[in-house]
Amino acid sequence: MNIRYTNHAAEELMYILQTGCAEGAKVFFLADEHTQNLCLPRIGSIPAERTIIIPAGDDHKTIATVTRVWKALQEGGATRSSHLVCVGGGMVTDLGGFAAATFKRGIGFTNVPTTLLAMVDAAVGGKTGVNLGGLKNEVGTFRDAEAVIIDTQFLATLDEENLRSGFAEMLKHSLLDSEAMWAQHVNLMLDEPDLATLQEMVQQSIEVKSRIVSQDPTERGLRKALNLGHTAGHAFETLALRRERPRLHGYCVAWGLVVSLYLSSTLLGFPTERLRQTVSFVRRYYGVPDVTCKDYETLYGLMLHDKKNADGRLNMTLLQDIGHIALNQHPSKEAIYEAFDFLREG
Ligand code: GLY
Repeated sequence: MNIRYTNHAAEELMYILQTGCAEGAKVFFLADEHTQNLCLPRIGSIPAERTIIIPAGDDHKTIATVTRVWKALQEGGATRSSHLVCVGGGMVTDLGGFAAATFKRGIGFTNVPTTLLAMVDAAVGGKTGVNLGGLKNEVGTFRDAEAVIIDTQFLATLDEENLRSGFAEMLKHSLLDSEAMWAQHVNLMLDEPDLATLQEMVQQSIEVKSRIVSQDPTERGLRKALNLGHTAGHAFETLALRRERPRLHGYCVAWGLVVSLYLSSTLLGFPTERLRQTVSFVRRYYGVPDVTCKDYETLYGLMLHDKKNADGRLNMTLLQDIGHIALNQHPSKEAIYEAFDFLREG
């Protein structure tokens, strides 16, 4: 994985294009309606054949939008040696990566993630894809970007909620890694983070993900660890969406982490003091989900539909301790309900 850390995205991108693309290769930019004005100007000095703008939001993460990108590439005369630069959050990097991976059986692409969530998760690790029939990332491929440019200066314009959302994935990586990394995360003042400290933590976080992905790029085993907190997290996210009160992905992951750590503690002996500290961090910065015990059946049903399950049973990643990963765990319905109670009431 070619991850480039910089404070000057334009210079880095110029270098990538000059060294990685054939002479005269056409470069295309992809951005959405938000990143077009907020982020694209930061690299706008680089000449491109065309800038393709797609509508923002997960609702537009569809094959219809991919078709628009394919057509724009075709109309712009893209060839196999052309290069797509995806500038945006996870929706743009996932969808753009998929469009690039499939156009003429694959052209090169570079990701320039502009949200914390995309920097530490979506843009890194080769997963590309789109939603289908109400299911997230139902169609996609594994395809590595030629490069991922991490310029944390983009975070200066990111709103607080999106910063917290991305940080939940960083908290997850710290739980998978080490006590020292976790302690730094749960002690961070997330409402007033120092950009230099955050920059270092972002790099550390990406390194954790990269290490895991490099050992298991196509998620046969170890990569499942990155699903920590996501089975319950996706259920909270889907329920909120159905109620037309959508919550950001990272908030749902933070709540999912509490569910997973509670299960880890009761089923595998995860230390209660570390559970307590993590829960108090999550409560402080993410609150609790807007659910009651009447929602448990629906939430459990949604968890059972997670595409990572097999044989009609839940298949979750839990922890024996920080950095001690237990893959393929099958908690009972009763245990899940207890974990929901714990999440709501502490
Ligand atoms: N977001 C989890 C993964 O990349 O595997």
